[in-house]
Amino acid sequence: MPKPITSYKSTALAMSNIALIKYWGNSNEALRLPINPSISFNLRDLYTTTTVEFDAALERDEVVIDEAPAQGGAYARVVKHLDLVRGEPNATHPKFARVISHNNFPMGAGIASSASAFAALSVAACAALQLSKSEAELSALARQGSGSASRSVPGGFVAWRDAHAYTIAPPDHWALMDVIGVVSSGHKKTGSTEGHALAPTSPLQAARVADTERRFGLCEQAIRQRDFALLAEVIEQDALMMHGVMMTSQPPLMYWLPASMAIMHAVQELRASGVAVAFTIDAGPNIHCICESAVAPQVEAMLNAIQGVKQVLSSQIGGPAIIVR
Ligand code: DP6
Repeated sequence: MPKPITSYKSTALAMSNIALIKYWGNSNEALRLPINPSISFNLRDLYTTTTVEFDAALERDEVVIDEAPAQGGAYARVVKHLDLVRGEPNATHPKFARVISHNNFPMGAGIASSASAFAALSVAACAALQLSKSEAELSALARQGSGSASRSVPGGFVAWRDAHAYTIAPPDHWALMDVIGVVSSGHKKTGSTEGHALAPTSPLQAARVADTERRFGLCEQAIRQRDFALLAEVIEQDALMMHGVMMTSQPPLMYWLPASMAIMHAVQELRASGVAVAFTIDAGPNIHCICESAVAPQVEAMLNAIQGVKQVLSSQIGGPAIIVR
């Protein structure tokens, strides 16, 4: 006789990730199926730890993020995600869960937390209910909470195409780092979910999507061959093409601040002087400087000297989402 399950509690850790080839726009908004494939690496030092406990004493889901009860849209997004996991109402486990989530990076630093958050929530919720799911299934589940979260389930260098993401190289394949110049800690006006929906309103989106396989192939090749010059060229072009789409959407999304531009110029000057560094930019004004680990101190010094840089955060490449308890 199998022993009855008495504990429906589990804790998972998932890292944030930085896209080198960006995901921007969906072919199916509801399912978060991406219009184009993307490539990223996991950020070992920027992560979310989430505990999910299904408890018969609860009358509704409880969600606490960074010590504060989640409300409104943030709460609804977590409940919707739990609904995907908990299944039928006649299931044998308790219906409602307590979710306690903690980011190790400063709140409001403009670092995307949805990727690590939905990856950790997916892994913890499935483990709490003892559902055995493959990495691909967990990635596909995380994707439905936040597209980029699909890439935080597998480890190292990760590609995401269609339903789920997969590892293309382990974390130690190439000693790269992400050194982030934080230029604004304010909450962004237009989040990525709304942004993805606006992408088709830009006449440039079709051209960006049509050219994605070329950039994806070059980025994969640069990673495989550890070719920094090739990586730099393709990731900067990819990020600028995405921002070209954003800026020409209706209404336009203009995320850059003067300090963002100053960093982009400084990165290109530093690279021209022989330092292996390149930039990429998400849906916000902060600049992610992708560099070889050996030159990270030089990149940090460059960022600290730029007016308008409020904080510098650095991370090495990390592994997959894991169950910690
Ligand atoms: C610019 O995954 O945050 O960072 O699915 O709506 O949560 P939602 O979007 P999200 O979009 C990420 C956009 C990006 C590029 C990227 O990470 O690929």
